[in-house]
Amino acid sequence: MPEQLRLTALERDRRVLELCEQVAEIEGRLIPTGLHVFGRASGETERADLLRMVASFDRPEANARALPDLIEAGLNITETSPLNNETDLSEQSLQAHEQVEAIMREAIELFLRDGKDDACAWLEATARVPPVESQRVFAVLEKIGAELEDNQELDAFVRALRGEYIEPGPGADIVQNPAILPTGRNTHAVNPYSVPSDLAFARAERLVKLLLERHHSEHGRYPAAMALVLWGLDNIKTQGEGVAQALWLLGVRPVRDAMNRVTDVEAIALEQLGRPRIDVVMTVSGIFRDLFGATMGLLDKAVKCVAELDEPLEANYVRRNIRAQMEREACEYDEAALRVFSNAAGNYGTNVNFMVMDSQWEADETLAELFVTRKCFAYGRDTEGRMLEGREARTAMNSALSRVEATYQNIDSFEIGITDVDHYFEYLGGVSKAVEKQSASRPAIYLSDALSREAKIRSVEETIRLETRTKTLNPKWYEGMLKHGFRGVAEIESHVANTFGWSATTDAVDDWVYTEVAQTFVLDESMLERLRELNPHSARSLVARLLEAEGRGFWEAEAEMIERLRDIFTGLEDRIEGVA
Ligand code: BEZ
Ligand code: MG
Repeated sequence: MPEQLRLTALERDRRVLELCEQVAEIEGRLIPTGLHVFGRASGETERADLLRMVASFDRPEANARALPDLIEAGLNITETSPLNNETDLSEQSLQAHEQVEAIMREAIELFLRDGKDDACAWLEATARVPPVESQRVFAVLEKIGAELEDNQELDAFVRALRGEYIEPGPGADIVQNPAILPTGRNTHAVNPYSVPSDLAFARAERLVKLLLERHHSEHGRYPAAMALVLWGLDNIKTQGEGVAQALWLLGVRPVRDAMNRVTDVEAIALEQLGRPRIDVVMTVSGIFRDLFGATMGLLDKAVKCVAELDEPLEANYVRRNIRAQMEREACEYDEAALRVFSNAAGNYGTNVNFMVMDSQWEADETLAELFVTRKCFAYGRDTEGRMLEGREARTAMNSALSRVEATYQNIDSFEIGITDVDHYFEYLGGVSKAVEKQSASRPAIYLSDALSREAKIRSVEETIRLETRTKTLNPKWYEGMLKHGFRGVAEIESHVANTFGWSATTDAVDDWVYTEVAQTFVLDESMLERLRELNPHSARSLVARLLEAEGRGFWEAEAEMIERLRDIFTGLEDRIEGVA
């Protein structure tokens, strides 16, 4: 009998609800529907989407609670995630989730059309939300809505060219920190000694717990070591959530000095931690290195603090790994304790993205070696207190990577995901490939969605599926892009190329992704004609990338489909040459 017929009713319901949850997740994503045009205010739909997202979170600065929480409380709903309640797998929770979403949507539309008093009155009548609470939410939205409508970017640009003063403003994600509005200001960053903030440290605790629980449930144990990617801009936006995650994995907390600067760490007791201290290798971007010198010192200090704790080896993987390496390689403690790696001073990036985009590699090992060549410069202090300042340490980095069983990076923005830019695969993909080479097995690869209402850990495979469905293959997204003419086609092509980058570095892309990309953009004649008209060069690159994916074994496609793609590629070539 086929497996699916043997499922119990309970298991079947579970699977259906899991599917529903995935659909709800896709539906709830904020999907950018076009590019930002410098100097132009956002349109109505985009404004409504952004405001809905802003209202989904508590806004402690305005004493405003998250709108979905207020609606749930008013309707007396305790839990809207259908899978959170294991004992009640009824449709009730799913319906409740949809009901809250629908009320939220309607309330924001009403607010935009008729103003906040009408929206508050409607919410009170529909979902018993006390107006005193909803007024606070809409006061926030009113301010943000007005700032979104008013765009001073061009004016500020011209004033900057004239050498005039431009007011400063914080750099962050709009949903996370609406104080970034109005745009067109002089973006400022962060004081490295304030990182991680208390809020970042609190949020990181939950995320690290989820991460380790997931790994444990799938692999039966905690990872002997993890490799983390830390970026500068991310840690500015989140006030150091990535840094805080590294500290939690190690099991230490930041300590502030008399001037309230984070300058030290102290160990969290093992009893409080309730799990071993995880060894962490940090691959840090050049931007992070330049902005967060003090923080790199803090991370190095954290590793050494943990290494020096007198604890059983099975509860302290840092100590265990350092000891084993010193014995095996007969090396010094200073060498075996190196964990913070970045580029050489003055250098940036891994170049793995360039090698992949230019198709300049044959063996996987080449990508792995390139990553380590670029990133094997150690930072921190030795036992004598001397600064390392980016000393080349290839052997030490390879040893550290050889123990890694899981790699991880934050996604900290609603706008930029792992297929929007080539930097996620150059870093997280690159380090995963380097681990695969050094440890002779592929690590588990995780990303977090730290900004969702419910913080989530996803595997790289799950993240690619989600982004493919919500962006690359979503008409809402690609039609939005195509409104930008040639640049929009280039964006679509770039999503396909970045997806290919994940195949090259992690082999995490399902065949259906390429198949549906081919069907949507190339084998659909009217769509192909639109792409060809708007930007024949990007259309050709897209088809070439699909053929390369098949050629390199990343995509198992029907021979007939490949034949058609080849013909179309030749047609595009002829057309471009004819035009030239
Ligand atoms: C960074 O913020 O560190 C970063 C941004 C883009 C690409 C790589 C690194
Ligand atoms: Mg495959």
